[in-house]
Amino acid sequence: MPAKPPTRLAIVGTGGMANWHARYFNKTRGCRITACVDTHPERVKDFAANYSIAETYGSTTELLEKSDIDAVVIVTPDPLHKPLALECIAAGKHVLCEKPLALNYPDARAMAKAAQRAGVINMVHFTYRNWSPIQKIADMVQAGKIGEIRHVEASYHQAWLVSKSWGDWRTSDAWLWRLDSSHGSKGVLGDIGVHILDFATFPAGPIKSLFCQLKTFSKAPRNRIGKYKLDANDTAVITAEFANGAIGSFQTTRWMPGHQNRLFLKISGTKGSVSFDSERSIEAFEICTGADIDQDSWKTVAVKPTPTLQDRFIRSIRSGKQEQPDFARGAEIQKLLDASFESHQRRVPVGIR
Ligand SMILES: NC(=O)c1ccc[n+]([C@@H]2O[C@H](COP(=O)([O-])OP(=O)(O)OC[C@H]3O[C@@H](n4cnc5c(N)ncnc54)[C@H](O)[C@@H]3O)[C@@H](O)[C@H]2O)c1
Repeated sequence: MPAKPPTRLAIVGTGGMANWHARYFNKTRGCRITACVDTHPERVKDFAANYSIAETYGSTTELLEKSDIDAVVIVTPDPLHKPLALECIAAGKHVLCEKPLALNYPDARAMAKAAQRAGVINMVHFTYRNWSPIQKIADMVQAGKIGEIRHVEASYHQAWLVSKSWGDWRTSDAWLWRLDSSHGSKGVLGDIGVHILDFATFPAGPIKSLFCQLKTFSKAPRNRIGKYKLDANDTAVITAEFANGAIGSFQTTRWMPGHQNRLFLKISGTKGSVSFDSERSIEAFEICTGADIDQDSWKTVAVKPTPTLQDRFIRSIRSGKQEQPDFARGAEIQKLLDASFESHQRRVPVGIR
């Protein structure tokens, strides 16, 4: 039997994060990036030249009219995820969409339903599922290796409001739109809080209720730079009760000098604890169970690489079997974001239904 031709992909949005997708899809078997799209003409041309992509377009409408592709990867600013994904789904294309999936739960749920009705493969880019320890931690916790879960501690810290190691946010549109709610930003909570909520609830299970406090610190005269009003939250603390009865906390901020990009997770139960710190290793985690508990000692567990989300997306398209995390999972996390905003506004705990 002749081999299946490669899956033809288009990257929509050719800014910073698109480089990540191009690099990873270029390493993924069974696919080829044949087109890219951006409303910024120079950017899309440079991107196509850098990655030897044959076709360039100025809009998804033009892409869908003129190009013969199987799937799209949506890497535009957050407010465009929903309209662009719905347009591509209506044209029968498989979609990998950047996080946060949408701006609110009803929109995210509409995207999940549309993809399901159209029968297309759909995935949300929760990047840190690529770190193999989280896959192993989820297997072990769900198999009861640390007993009944009692306590969860999860955090995602960045430093870019203080540090210049990723450039100066004051002079870059790519950072400034993330600070302005009128540009569709949901602040640090929507940007990286979304990752840590997925990262922790993947092994620890669903949240039953949460209480959230958000803060936006002053960052410029009148908290404004050019066309950007710097009103989106830049620090968030959430306390949560899980459906299994455990209690946990989530912390996320862009104000953590010394931690450019750190994810930390500890899950503790009646028979032990597991702990992951991305600054220690993204290929291993620590465990304390059995006799180690009375010695206060930990063992390091090294984990072999796991398929990337790009691998899983292409594998799903080629096998017809939807893998995780799909749009429904993206919508579940969006529900936690909505509840966090509601809790902050009303100053009360909010149940997750
Ligand atoms: N998963 C992760 O770890 C991760 C990391 C960074 C960013 N992201 C997400 O990726 C997305 C893009 O972020 P970024 O940092 O690359 O932003 P960016 O501002 O660098 O790039 C966005 C690009 O989209 C283009 N664009 C705008 N409207 C468009 C349209 N209608 N059609 C086509 N292109 C359009 C812009 O011109 C720009 O080139 C965001 O949703 C962000 O949350 C995810």
